[in-house]
Amino acid sequence: MKSKLHFLPEARTVEAETGTTILDAALEADIDIYHDCGGNGACSTCHIQVLEGMETLNDKTEDELDLLGDLENCNESSRLACQCQVNGDLIIEIPVSR
Ligand code: FES
Repeated sequence: MKSKLHFLPEARTVEAETGTTILDAALEADIDIYHDCGGNGACSTCHIQVLEGMETLNDKTEDELDLLGDLENCNESSRLACQCQVNGDLIIEIPVSR
């Protein structure tokens, strides 16, 4: 099943199969998200804010919580794009600064 992912601030919508990570869906559509550790959940540069659809995503692991906790601009919408598997429509904001 495909879901629609709407990325801000570019305002582009892409489709992604269930189970694809948000990072992979973005990169496949040439939407730039930093991913210094290559999507291994070890760097936090793929920080995004999930504005709608958070409830459709898998829960955060302890490791993701730890990495997010170190970010200055972390809030309740924050996730790591490489650790989120798509399972429904999403609105995602890519923070401007790292
Ligand atoms: S790319 Fe490094 S944590 Fe996601």
